[in-house]
Amino acid sequence: MNSPPELVEAVRAASHVVVMTGAGISAESGVPTFRDAQTGLWAQYDPEELATPGAFRRNPRLVWDWYSWRRELVSQAEPNPGHFALVQLAAHIPQLTLITQNVDGLHQRAGSQNVIELHGNILRAKCSADGRIITAWPETSETPPPCPECGAPLRPDVVWFGEALPMLALNQAARAAEQGDLFLSIGTSALVHPAASLAHIALQRGAVVAEINLEPTPLTAAATIAWHGPAGQLLPQLFRDAFPADAFPE
Ligand code: OAD
Repeated sequence: MNSPPELVEAVRAASHVVVMTGAGISAESGVPTFRDAQTGLWAQYDPEELATPGAFRRNPRLVWDWYSWRRELVSQAEPNPGHFALVQLAAHIPQLTLITQNVDGLHQRAGSQNVIELHGNILRAKCSADGRIITAWPETSETPPPCPECGAPLRPDVVWFGEALPMLALNQAARAAEQGDLFLSIGTSALVHPAASLAHIALQRGAVVAEINLEPTPLTAAATIAWHGPAGQLLPQLFRDAFPADAFPE
């Protein structure tokens, strides 16, 4: 399936591409999404029991163990052609800002630089008392492990429902959405705000907004272009169609 011609044209003409990714771009790496029927995490688990400050207060061990399970899953996953295609696109476009809702670190492992992580990163922890970021902690029988600095329980460095997003990341993302001339919404159900508002900021500023997702979402109707299919196939196709000389070097 070839890329929509208007999308190829927009990629070639863009001076600043803003990319927003969601769990769908990691699906082909074997990392579960949240809202896909049956396989999504929120189809199997109750977010209120696992992904809220209240859940952690009520049962820190359960929450820590669930995120440890996800961290193990993510550590065994590999970036897929969709992640790598974004690295290739970034090398052929004057400016590309990559914003992700994902906490799996797969964009960085694929080689993307300066990734804006709106919802944190599951590979990091933070002190539940003072929010200090902890990137390594001693394996102990205690779960959650104690903060190496003050002994308070560690928690995952991810945004839970009801929590504010990291201000620096959100400001960087909003500024990019206001400046970009092409906004790609990839692998996200476009349901969770404020992340889902960024595409609308771009639309209001007159940017071309393209949705690349397995199925339609609430963004589809407003998007300039909607291209539905697996990101691991569509993104490499888009790169080949936009930069054929580089995709097939002589
Ligand atoms: P969702 O699970 O809500 O949506 C994933 C989207 O990806 C769906 O629209 C799928 O159709 C699509 N999809 C699935 N497989 C795909 C594939 N191979 N290629 C392309 N698209 C595919 O995940 P998010 O939109 O990322 O919040 O969810 C947003 C936030 O809600 C997450 O960041 C998380 C969750 O609660 C926090 O962690 C705070």
